[in-house]
Amino acid sequence: MKSATVTKQKKLRLKTTLPGDKSVSHRAMMFAALAKGKSVIRNYLQSQDCENTAKIFKALGVRVKKVKPCVYEVTGQGLGGLRAPRQKLQCGNSGTTMRLMAGILSAQPFRSVLVGDRSLSRRPMNRIMVPLKKMGAVIVGSVKGAHTTAPLRITGQNLRGIRYRLPVASAQVKSAILLAGIFSKNKTVVVEPVATRDHTERFLKFLSLPIKIKNDRIQIAGGRTPRAFHLEVPGDVSSASFLMAMGVLVPDSQLELQNILWNPGRTGIIRAIKSMGGNVKILSRQQTGPEKTVDLKVSTSRLRAVQISRKEVPSLIDELPILMVLATQAEGKSWFRGVEELRVKETDRIQSMVPQLRAMGANIGVQKNDIWVQGPSVLQGTRVKSFKDHRTAMSFVVAGMVAQGKTTVQDIDCIKTSFPGFWETLKKAGVGLSGNRR
Ligand code: S3P
Repeated sequence: MKSATVTKQKKLRLKTTLPGDKSVSHRAMMFAALAKGKSVIRNYLQSQDCENTAKIFKALGVRVKKVKPCVYEVTGQGLGGLRAPRQKLQCGNSGTTMRLMAGILSAQPFRSVLVGDRSLSRRPMNRIMVPLKKMGAVIVGSVKGAHTTAPLRITGQNLRGIRYRLPVASAQVKSAILLAGIFSKNKTVVVEPVATRDHTERFLKFLSLPIKIKNDRIQIAGGRTPRAFHLEVPGDVSSASFLMAMGVLVPDSQLELQNILWNPGRTGIIRAIKSMGGNVKILSRQQTGPEKTVDLKVSTSRLRAVQISRKEVPSLIDELPILMVLATQAEGKSWFRGVEELRVKETDRIQSMVPQLRAMGANIGVQKNDIWVQGPSVLQGTRVKSFKDHRTAMSFVVAGMVAQGKTTVQDIDCIKTSFPGFWETLKKAGVGLSGNRR
Protein backbone atom coordinates (compact mmCIF):
# COMPACT_ATOMS: atom_id res chain seq x y z
CA MET A 1 0.00 0.00 0.00
CA LYS A 2 1.37 3.42 -0.89
CA SER A 3 1.70 6.00 1.85
CA ALA A 4 3.16 9.47 2.37
CA THR A 5 4.73 11.01 5.44
CA VAL A 6 4.47 14.75 6.00
CA THR A 7 5.98 16.93 8.71
CA LYS A 8 5.39 20.49 9.88
CA GLN A 9 6.24 22.99 7.14
CA LYS A 10 7.93 26.36 7.65
CA LYS A 11 7.71 28.10 4.32
CA LEU A 12 5.96 27.61 0.96
CA ARG A 13 6.36 29.35 -2.38
CA LEU A 14 4.43 28.36 -5.49
CA LYS A 15 3.24 29.78 -8.78
CA THR A 16 1.22 27.28 -10.77
CA THR A 17 -1.77 26.49 -12.95
CA LEU A 18 -3.96 23.53 -12.02
CA PRO A 19 -5.22 20.48 -13.87
CA GLY A 20 -8.63 20.95 -15.46
CA ASP A 21 -11.75 21.07 -13.34
CA LYS A 22 -13.30 17.63 -12.88
CA SER A 23 -16.95 18.67 -13.19
CA VAL A 24 -16.28 20.82 -16.26
CA SER A 25 -14.10 18.13 -17.90
CA HIS A 26 -16.83 15.48 -17.59
CA ARG A 27 -19.42 17.78 -19.07
CA ALA A 28 -17.14 18.98 -21.87
CA MET A 29 -16.60 15.35 -22.95
CA MET A 30 -20.33 14.60 -22.77
CA PHE A 31 -21.44 17.64 -24.76
CA ALA A 32 -18.67 17.17 -27.34
CA ALA A 33 -19.80 13.57 -27.82
CA LEU A 34 -23.42 14.62 -28.32
CA ALA A 35 -22.55 17.55 -30.61
CA LYS A 36 -22.31 17.42 -34.39
CA GLY A 37 -18.74 17.88 -35.61
CA LYS A 38 -15.27 18.08 -34.17
CA SER A 39 -14.72 19.64 -30.75
CA VAL A 40 -11.35 20.26 -29.14
CA ILE A 41 -10.99 20.15 -25.35
CA ARG A 42 -7.76 21.44 -23.81
CA ASN A 43 -6.62 21.06 -20.19
CA TYR A 44 -8.98 18.08 -19.88
CA LEU A 45 -8.47 16.53 -16.46
CA GLN A 46 -6.27 13.49 -16.95
CA SER A 47 -7.60 11.74 -13.85
CA GLN A 48 -9.09 8.29 -13.55
CA ASP A 49 -12.62 9.69 -13.21
CA CYS A 50 -12.48 11.78 -16.38
CA GLU A 51 -10.64 9.09 -18.34
CA ASN A 52 -13.53 6.76 -17.55
CA THR A 53 -15.96 9.22 -19.09
CA ALA A 54 -13.80 9.44 -22.24
CA LYS A 55 -13.52 5.63 -22.47
CA ILE A 56 -17.27 5.23 -22.13
CA PHE A 57 -17.91 7.44 -25.16
CA LYS A 58 -15.33 5.47 -27.15
CA ALA A 59 -17.26 2.31 -26.21
CA LEU A 60 -20.40 4.09 -27.45
CA GLY A 61 -18.83 4.58 -30.88
CA VAL A 62 -17.74 8.23 -30.60
CA ARG A 63 -14.35 9.21 -32.07
CA VAL A 64 -12.44 10.35 -29.00
CA LYS A 65 -8.79 11.01 -29.73
CA LYS A 66 -6.20 12.13 -27.21
CA VAL A 67 -3.93 14.25 -29.40
CA LYS A 68 -1.50 15.02 -26.60
CA PRO A 69 -1.66 14.98 -22.81
CA CYS A 70 -4.84 16.75 -21.66
CA VAL A 71 -5.98 17.57 -25.23
CA TYR A 72 -8.85 15.65 -26.79
CA GLU A 73 -10.44 15.85 -30.20
CA VAL A 74 -13.97 14.52 -30.03
CA THR A 75 -16.00 14.02 -33.19
CA GLY A 76 -19.68 13.76 -32.31
CA GLN A 77 -22.39 12.58 -34.68
CA GLY A 78 -25.17 14.54 -33.01
CA LEU A 79 -27.94 13.35 -30.71
CA GLY A 80 -28.51 10.12 -32.65
CA GLY A 81 -24.81 9.28 -32.92
CA LEU A 82 -24.25 6.86 -30.04
CA ARG A 83 -23.98 3.10 -30.75
CA ALA A 84 -24.81 0.11 -28.54
CA PRO A 85 -21.75 -0.79 -26.43
CA ARG A 86 -20.30 -4.31 -26.61
CA GLN A 87 -19.23 -4.26 -22.98
CA LYS A 88 -20.36 -2.96 -19.61
CA LEU A 89 -19.54 0.72 -19.16
CA GLN A 90 -17.01 1.20 -16.35
CA CYS A 91 -17.45 4.39 -14.30
CA GLY A 92 -14.77 3.47 -11.73
CA ASN A 93 -15.00 5.77 -8.72
CA SER A 94 -16.93 8.50 -10.52
CA GLY A 95 -20.45 9.32 -9.34
CA THR A 96 -20.66 12.15 -11.88
CA THR A 97 -19.95 9.74 -14.74
CA MET A 98 -22.53 7.22 -13.59
CA ARG A 99 -25.34 9.64 -12.78
CA LEU A 100 -24.96 11.90 -15.82
CA MET A 101 -24.45 8.97 -18.19
CA ALA A 102 -27.63 7.37 -16.84
CA GLY A 103 -29.51 10.48 -18.04
CA ILE A 104 -28.01 10.20 -21.54
CA LEU A 105 -28.29 6.42 -21.86
CA SER A 106 -31.93 6.32 -20.73
CA ALA A 107 -32.80 7.99 -24.03
CA GLN A 108 -30.75 5.81 -26.43
CA PRO A 109 -32.24 3.12 -28.68
CA PHE A 110 -30.17 0.35 -27.08
CA ARG A 111 -29.35 -1.38 -23.82
CA SER A 112 -26.38 -0.56 -21.64
CA VAL A 113 -25.01 -1.42 -18.22
CA LEU A 114 -23.18 1.07 -15.99
CA VAL A 115 -20.83 -0.40 -13.39
CA GLY A 116 -18.51 1.13 -10.80
CA ASP A 117 -15.84 0.26 -8.23
CA ARG A 118 -16.69 -0.88 -4.68
CA SER A 119 -17.21 2.63 -3.40
CA LEU A 120 -19.43 3.73 -6.29
CA SER A 121 -21.39 0.47 -6.10
CA ARG A 122 -22.48 1.46 -2.60
CA ARG A 123 -23.66 4.98 -3.47
CA PRO A 124 -27.36 5.83 -3.87
CA MET A 125 -28.73 5.80 -7.40
CA ASN A 126 -32.45 6.08 -6.48
CA ARG A 127 -32.03 9.83 -6.64
CA ILE A 128 -31.57 9.70 -10.43
CA MET A 129 -33.72 6.65 -11.09
CA VAL A 130 -36.87 8.23 -9.64
CA PRO A 131 -36.97 11.28 -11.97
CA LEU A 132 -35.62 9.39 -15.00
CA LYS A 133 -38.31 6.73 -14.58
CA LYS A 134 -40.94 9.50 -14.48
CA MET A 135 -39.57 10.51 -17.89
CA GLY A 136 -40.19 6.94 -19.11
CA ALA A 137 -36.74 5.45 -18.50
CA VAL A 138 -36.31 1.75 -17.81
CA ILE A 139 -33.47 1.31 -15.32
CA VAL A 140 -32.89 -1.65 -13.05
CA GLY A 141 -30.45 -1.29 -10.18
CA SER A 142 -29.59 -3.55 -7.30
CA VAL A 143 -31.46 -2.99 -4.05
CA LYS A 144 -29.16 -2.71 -1.00
CA GLY A 145 -31.07 -1.74 2.14
CA ALA A 146 -32.57 1.71 1.72
CA HIS A 147 -30.52 2.39 -1.44
CA THR A 148 -30.71 1.23 -5.01
CA THR A 149 -27.17 1.02 -6.34
CA ALA A 150 -25.10 0.12 -9.39
CA PRO A 151 -24.85 -1.86 -11.59
CA LEU A 152 -27.52 0.03 -13.51
CA ARG A 153 -29.12 -1.86 -16.39
CA ILE A 154 -30.66 0.62 -18.76
CA THR A 155 -33.00 -0.11 -21.64
CA GLY A 156 -33.22 3.08 -23.67
CA GLN A 157 -36.67 4.59 -24.39
CA ASN A 158 -38.31 7.58 -25.99
CA LEU A 159 -38.47 9.94 -23.04
CA ARG A 160 -40.99 12.66 -22.20
CA GLY A 161 -40.29 15.90 -20.39
CA ILE A 162 -41.30 16.28 -16.74
CA ARG A 163 -41.45 18.93 -14.06
CA TYR A 164 -39.36 17.80 -11.11
CA ARG A 165 -38.53 19.43 -7.81
CA LEU A 166 -35.20 18.12 -6.50
CA PRO A 167 -35.59 16.49 -3.07
CA VAL A 168 -31.79 16.57 -2.52
CA ALA A 169 -29.51 19.46 -3.42
CA SER A 170 -27.51 17.64 -6.10
CA ALA A 171 -25.99 18.96 -9.31
CA GLN A 172 -25.55 15.39 -10.48
CA VAL A 173 -29.28 14.69 -10.24
CA LYS A 174 -30.16 18.02 -11.86
CA SER A 175 -27.69 17.34 -14.68
CA ALA A 176 -28.92 13.79 -15.29
CA ILE A 177 -32.45 15.15 -15.78
CA LEU A 178 -31.33 18.03 -18.02
CA LEU A 179 -29.24 15.69 -20.19
CA ALA A 180 -32.21 13.32 -20.53
CA GLY A 181 -34.28 16.42 -21.29
CA ILE A 182 -32.17 17.17 -24.40
CA PHE A 183 -33.49 13.92 -25.90
CA SER A 184 -37.09 14.23 -24.66
CA LYS A 185 -40.38 15.20 -26.21
CA ASN A 186 -41.74 18.46 -24.78
CA LYS A 187 -40.11 20.53 -22.09
CA THR A 188 -38.31 19.41 -18.97
CA VAL A 189 -38.37 21.62 -15.90
CA VAL A 190 -36.14 21.13 -12.86
CA VAL A 191 -36.90 23.14 -9.73
CA GLU A 192 -33.98 23.53 -7.42
CA PRO A 193 -34.79 24.54 -3.81
CA VAL A 194 -31.09 25.10 -3.05
CA ALA A 195 -28.75 26.24 -5.82
CA THR A 196 -26.07 23.73 -6.87
CA ARG A 197 -23.20 24.05 -9.37
CA ASP A 198 -24.58 25.15 -12.74
CA HIS A 199 -21.94 23.88 -15.21
CA THR A 200 -24.51 21.88 -17.20
CA GLU A 201 -26.78 24.90 -17.60
CA ARG A 202 -23.82 27.06 -18.68
CA PHE A 203 -22.84 24.48 -21.30
CA LEU A 204 -26.43 24.32 -22.59
CA LYS A 205 -26.44 28.11 -23.06
CA PHE A 206 -22.93 28.19 -24.50
CA LEU A 207 -23.89 25.58 -27.10
CA SER A 208 -27.08 27.47 -28.04
CA LEU A 209 -29.58 24.92 -26.72
CA PRO A 210 -33.01 26.20 -25.69
CA ILE A 211 -32.57 26.61 -21.95
CA LYS A 212 -34.46 29.11 -19.80
CA ILE A 213 -33.60 29.86 -16.19
CA LYS A 214 -35.86 31.84 -13.90
CA ASN A 215 -35.10 31.93 -10.19
CA ASP A 216 -34.97 28.30 -9.02
CA ARG A 217 -36.57 26.93 -12.22
CA ILE A 218 -34.52 25.53 -15.12
CA GLN A 219 -36.28 24.62 -18.34
CA ILE A 220 -34.90 22.77 -21.36
CA ALA A 221 -36.73 21.93 -24.57
CA GLY A 222 -35.67 18.67 -26.22
CA GLY A 223 -34.61 17.74 -29.73
CA ARG A 224 -31.88 20.30 -30.53
CA THR A 225 -28.32 19.15 -31.24
CA PRO A 226 -25.46 20.96 -29.49
CA ARG A 227 -22.86 22.63 -31.72
CA ALA A 228 -19.24 21.50 -31.69
CA PHE A 229 -16.89 23.76 -29.70
CA HIS A 230 -13.34 24.53 -28.61
CA LEU A 231 -12.72 24.86 -24.90
CA GLU A 232 -9.85 25.29 -22.47
CA VAL A 233 -11.05 23.73 -19.20
CA PRO A 234 -10.42 26.03 -16.21
CA GLY A 235 -8.17 24.87 -13.35
CA ASP A 236 -9.99 22.77 -10.75
CA VAL A 237 -11.07 24.92 -7.80
CA SER A 238 -11.57 21.82 -5.62
CA SER A 239 -7.96 20.74 -6.18
CA ALA A 240 -6.87 24.35 -5.66
CA SER A 241 -8.58 24.35 -2.24
CA PHE A 242 -5.88 22.05 -0.81
CA LEU A 243 -3.18 24.46 -2.01
CA MET A 244 -5.12 27.47 -0.68
CA ALA A 245 -5.40 25.74 2.70
CA MET A 246 -1.63 25.11 2.77
CA GLY A 247 -1.06 28.72 1.77
CA VAL A 248 -3.06 30.18 4.66
CA LEU A 249 -1.95 27.64 7.29
CA VAL A 250 1.81 27.30 6.78
CA PRO A 251 3.90 30.22 8.12
CA ASP A 252 5.71 32.37 5.57
CA SER A 253 3.74 31.15 2.54
CA GLN A 254 2.90 32.80 -0.75
CA LEU A 255 1.07 30.89 -3.44
CA GLU A 256 -0.11 32.12 -6.81
CA LEU A 257 -2.74 29.93 -8.46
CA GLN A 258 -3.51 30.74 -12.07
CA ASN A 259 -6.58 30.17 -14.22
CA ILE A 260 -8.79 28.75 -11.46
CA LEU A 261 -12.50 28.14 -12.09
CA TRP A 262 -14.55 31.03 -10.70
CA ASN A 263 -18.16 29.91 -10.47
CA PRO A 264 -20.33 30.96 -7.50
CA GLY A 265 -21.67 27.39 -7.29
CA ARG A 266 -18.12 26.22 -6.58
CA THR A 267 -16.31 29.05 -4.85
CA GLY A 268 -17.93 28.62 -1.43
CA ILE A 269 -14.51 27.56 -0.14
CA ILE A 270 -12.95 30.86 -1.21
CA ARG A 271 -15.78 32.82 0.44
CA ALA A 272 -15.31 30.70 3.59
CA ILE A 273 -11.53 31.19 3.72
CA LYS A 274 -11.99 34.94 3.22
CA SER A 275 -14.61 35.15 5.96
CA MET A 276 -12.15 33.32 8.24
CA GLY A 277 -9.71 36.16 7.66
CA GLY A 278 -7.68 34.31 5.01
CA ASN A 279 -5.50 36.40 2.71
CA VAL A 280 -6.88 35.57 -0.72
CA LYS A 281 -6.44 38.21 -3.41
CA ILE A 282 -7.79 38.13 -6.94
CA LEU A 283 -5.04 39.24 -9.31
CA SER A 284 -6.97 39.02 -12.60
CA ARG A 285 -10.14 37.64 -14.17
CA GLN A 286 -10.66 35.83 -17.46
CA GLN A 287 -13.42 33.93 -19.31
CA THR A 288 -13.12 30.54 -20.99
CA GLY A 289 -16.15 29.31 -22.91
CA PRO A 290 -19.05 29.02 -20.48
CA GLU A 291 -17.02 29.67 -17.32
CA LYS A 292 -15.06 32.47 -15.66
CA THR A 293 -11.58 32.02 -14.20
CA VAL A 294 -9.27 33.97 -11.89
CA ASP A 295 -5.64 34.17 -10.88
CA LEU A 296 -5.36 34.12 -7.09
CA LYS A 297 -2.73 34.93 -4.52
CA VAL A 298 -2.92 33.22 -1.14
CA SER A 299 -0.66 33.92 1.83
CA THR A 300 -0.25 33.01 5.49
CA SER A 301 -3.18 34.17 7.60
CA ARG A 302 -4.55 34.22 11.13
CA LEU A 303 -7.86 32.43 10.95
CA ARG A 304 -11.08 32.82 12.91
CA ALA A 305 -14.03 30.40 13.04
CA VAL A 306 -16.54 30.16 10.20
CA GLN A 307 -20.31 29.49 10.12
CA ILE A 308 -21.57 27.50 7.14
CA SER A 309 -25.34 27.24 6.66
CA ARG A 310 -27.17 24.35 4.96
CA LYS A 311 -27.81 26.60 1.93
CA GLU A 312 -24.09 27.22 1.43
CA VAL A 313 -23.16 23.54 1.61
CA PRO A 314 -23.53 22.66 -2.11
CA SER A 315 -21.09 25.42 -3.08
CA LEU A 316 -18.36 23.78 -0.98
CA ILE A 317 -19.58 20.20 -0.57
CA ASP A 318 -16.30 18.68 -1.83
CA GLU A 319 -14.24 21.14 0.22
CA LEU A 320 -15.79 20.34 3.63
CA PRO A 321 -13.00 17.88 4.57
CA ILE A 322 -10.28 20.51 4.03
CA LEU A 323 -12.48 23.15 5.67
CA MET A 324 -12.61 20.93 8.78
CA VAL A 325 -8.79 20.94 8.80
CA LEU A 326 -8.78 24.76 8.45
CA ALA A 327 -11.29 25.12 11.30
CA THR A 328 -8.99 23.18 13.66
CA GLN A 329 -6.50 26.05 13.26
CA ALA A 330 -9.03 28.89 13.56
CA GLU A 331 -9.86 30.84 16.72
CA GLY A 332 -13.38 30.04 17.96
CA LYS A 333 -16.14 27.55 17.25
CA SER A 334 -16.95 26.77 13.62
CA TRP A 335 -20.23 25.14 12.58
CA PHE A 336 -21.03 23.33 9.34
CA ARG A 337 -24.81 22.86 9.21
CA GLY A 338 -26.73 20.26 7.23
CA VAL A 339 -23.78 18.28 5.92
CA GLU A 340 -25.45 14.83 5.75
CA GLU A 341 -24.62 14.50 2.02
CA LEU A 342 -21.04 13.88 3.16
CA ARG A 343 -22.19 10.41 4.20
CA VAL A 344 -22.80 9.34 0.59
CA LYS A 345 -19.66 10.64 -1.10
CA GLU A 346 -16.73 8.44 -2.26
CA THR A 347 -16.60 7.40 1.39
CA ASP A 348 -18.58 8.59 4.42
CA ARG A 349 -16.58 11.79 4.85
CA ILE A 350 -17.96 12.50 8.34
CA GLN A 351 -16.62 9.13 9.44
CA SER A 352 -13.33 9.46 7.54
CA MET A 353 -12.56 12.97 8.86
CA VAL A 354 -14.02 13.56 12.33
CA PRO A 355 -12.58 10.63 14.37
CA GLN A 356 -9.19 10.87 12.66
CA LEU A 357 -8.91 14.63 13.20
CA ARG A 358 -9.89 14.00 16.83
CA ALA A 359 -7.12 11.40 17.04
CA MET A 360 -4.71 14.14 15.90
CA GLY A 361 -5.88 16.35 18.78
CA ALA A 362 -8.66 18.38 17.17
CA ASN A 363 -11.70 19.39 19.23
CA ILE A 364 -14.38 18.35 16.75
CA GLY A 365 -17.80 16.73 17.00
CA VAL A 366 -20.99 15.81 15.20
CA GLN A 367 -24.51 16.81 16.25
CA LYS A 368 -27.10 15.12 14.03
CA ASN A 369 -26.40 16.60 10.59
CA ASP A 370 -24.05 19.33 11.80
CA ILE A 371 -20.32 19.35 12.50
CA TRP A 372 -18.64 21.71 14.98
CA VAL A 373 -14.95 22.43 15.44
CA GLN A 374 -13.53 24.35 18.40
CA GLY A 375 -10.17 25.83 17.52
CA PRO A 376 -7.36 26.38 17.56
CA SER A 377 -5.80 23.02 18.47
CA VAL A 378 -2.24 21.83 18.31
CA LEU A 379 -2.42 18.81 16.01
CA GLN A 380 -0.23 15.82 16.63
CA GLY A 381 1.03 13.75 13.72
CA THR A 382 -0.15 10.15 13.59
CA ARG A 383 -1.01 7.39 11.10
CA VAL A 384 -4.26 8.09 9.25
CA LYS A 385 -6.28 6.26 6.60
CA SER A 386 -7.58 7.66 3.35
CA PHE A 387 -10.45 5.15 3.14
CA LYS A 388 -9.48 5.20 -0.57
CA ASP A 389 -11.02 8.68 -0.79
CA HIS A 390 -8.96 11.28 -2.64
CA ARG A 391 -10.24 14.29 -0.70
CA THR A 392 -9.79 12.62 2.70
CA ALA A 393 -6.21 11.73 1.70
CA MET A 394 -5.31 15.26 0.53
CA SER A 395 -6.96 16.86 3.59
CA PHE A 396 -4.76 14.82 5.94
CA VAL A 397 -1.64 15.60 3.93
CA VAL A 398 -2.39 19.30 4.57
CA ALA A 399 -3.20 18.61 8.25
CA GLY A 400 0.24 16.96 8.48
CA MET A 401 1.86 20.22 7.33
CA VAL A 402 0.74 21.97 10.54
CA ALA A 403 0.94 19.01 12.95
CA GLN A 404 3.76 18.23 15.39
CA GLY A 405 5.84 15.20 14.44
CA LYS A 406 5.07 12.92 11.53
CA THR A 407 1.73 12.35 9.84
CA THR A 408 1.57 9.26 7.65
CA VAL A 409 -1.36 9.09 5.24
CA GLN A 410 -2.02 5.53 4.11
CA ASP A 411 -3.43 4.34 0.82
CA ILE A 412 -2.80 7.48 -1.20
CA ASP A 413 -3.20 6.07 -4.70
CA CYS A 414 -6.78 7.41 -4.76
CA ILE A 415 -5.46 10.98 -5.15
CA LYS A 416 -5.21 10.19 -8.88
CA THR A 417 -9.00 10.24 -8.95
CA SER A 418 -8.99 14.03 -9.13
CA PHE A 419 -5.49 15.55 -8.77
CA PRO A 420 -2.80 14.03 -10.95
CA GLY A 421 0.45 15.84 -10.22
CA PHE A 422 -0.50 16.51 -6.57
CA TRP A 423 2.87 15.34 -5.19
CA GLU A 424 4.88 17.15 -7.88
CA THR A 425 2.96 20.36 -7.08
CA LEU A 426 3.71 19.99 -3.35
CA LYS A 427 7.39 19.41 -4.09
CA LYS A 428 7.44 22.50 -6.30
CA ALA A 429 5.96 24.47 -3.38
CA GLY A 430 8.85 23.29 -1.20
CA VAL A 431 7.00 20.65 0.85
CA GLY A 432 9.34 18.00 2.26
CA LEU A 433 7.83 14.54 1.82
CA SER A 434 8.86 10.97 2.49
CA GLY A 435 7.13 7.60 2.32
CA ASN A 436 6.40 5.04 -0.30
CA ARG A 437 4.55 7.02 -2.95
CA ARG A 438 5.43 5.01 -6.07
C1 S3P B 1 -20.59 17.06 -8.97
C2 S3P B 1 -21.54 17.36 -8.02
C3 S3P B 1 -21.39 17.08 -6.58
C4 S3P B 1 -19.94 16.85 -6.20
C5 S3P B 1 -19.22 15.96 -7.15
C6 S3P B 1 -19.28 16.50 -8.58
C7 S3P B 1 -20.87 17.34 -10.38
O1 S3P B 1 -22.16 15.93 -6.26
O2 S3P B 1 -19.86 16.32 -4.88
O3 S3P B 1 -17.86 15.81 -6.78
O4 S3P B 1 -19.93 17.36 -11.19
O5 S3P B 1 -22.04 17.56 -10.70
P1 S3P B 1 -23.72 16.08 -5.92
O6 S3P B 1 -24.31 16.88 -6.97
O7 S3P B 1 -24.27 14.69 -5.90
O8 S3P B 1 -23.74 16.72 -4.57
